Amino acid sequence: MQRKIRIGALVSGGGSNLQAIIDACTEEKIDGRMVFVGADNPRAHGLERARHNGIATFVVDYDTIIADIRRNSEKAKLPEDCNMDELLARQALFPSGADLAKGRAFLMTRVPVENHLLEAIRPYPFDLLVLAGFMRNLSPYFIDRINTDPDRPRIMNIHPSLLPAFGGTDGYGDTFRYGCKVGGCTVHFIDYGEDTGPIIGQRAFPIVPGDDIEAVRKKGLQLEWELYPECIQLFAAGRLKVVKKSYDLGKGRTMQRKVVEISSKI
Ligand code: GAR
Repeated sequence: MQRKIRIGALVSGGGSNLQAIIDACTEEKIDGRMVFVGADNPRAHGLERARHNGIATFVVDYDTIIADIRRNSEKAKLPEDCNMDELLARQALFPSGADLAKGRAFLMTRVPVENHLLEAIRPYPFDLLVLAGFMRNLSPYFIDRINTDPDRPRIMNIHPSLLPAFGGTDGYGDTFRYGCKVGGCTVHFIDYGEDTGPIIGQRAFPIVPGDDIEAVRKKGLQLEWELYPECIQLFAAGRLKVVKKSYDLGKGRTMQRKVVEISSKI
C-alpha cells in the first residue's frame, strides 16, 4: 500500500477548498493527511475548520509584521541567507526595469515575513504545500526553500479562472466583467510569477444569460472542490512530472515552457 503524503495548507479566508481537501483525505480519495494549516491573518475561518478536525494551526500575521517592519527599520533586516540582488534577478512579479524598485521594496518586507512563515512551518515536515485561498504572492526566497529540487515542485495553488486568463485577486469577477461565456478554475504549481506556474488541471463551466457574479462564483467553487482533491491525489500517486518543452515558432523564435505531464494510472 502506498504511503500517505503529508499535506500542509496555507489559507487567508473561508477555507472551503481546505474543507474539501480535509474531507477527501478522510474519505480516502486522497492518499494523504493534513499536517498543518497556517494563515496570514488570525480571522481566517479556515483555522476554525482545521481546529475542528484536530489539525495543528498557526498564524503569521502578514499585515502586522509588515506594518512593524515599515515603522521600525531594525526589523527590516534581511535574513543572513538572503541575497537581494539574486532574488531580484529571479523574481517575476515585477519584471520590467522600472518596476525593479517596486520589486526591491516588496522583497524588503516580504522576505522577513516569509522567514517567519518558514519558522512556523519547520516543526511540521510535509510532502506537499497547498495554497487554499492564500491571497499572498510568495517570493523566490520562500519558494526555493520549499522546492529544494527544482524539477519536483511541491507548492500547489488553486486559482478561480482558466489560466493564463485573469490571474490576480478576483478571477471570477474578472471573468464575469469581461463578458466571458465560459469560466473555470485551474490548479497549478507555483513558480516565481503570479499565477503563471505549470498547469496541473482545469475545469470549465458555462456562463449563461441571467448569471451574476455570485452565480459564477458558486458554479466555480463547486468545481474547485472536485478539482483540487483530484490534482492532489495525482501528486500523491506520483503521477505528475514537470517537463521543459521547447517549441520552434519559426523566424528564429522559440518558446520555452515548463508543463505538467500526467502519467497514466498503473
Ligand atoms: C477560491 O475561489 C480560490 O480559487 C481563490 O480564493 C477562493 C478561496 O475560497 N483563490 C485565489 O484567488 C488565489 N489567487 P475558500 O477560502 O473558500 O477556499
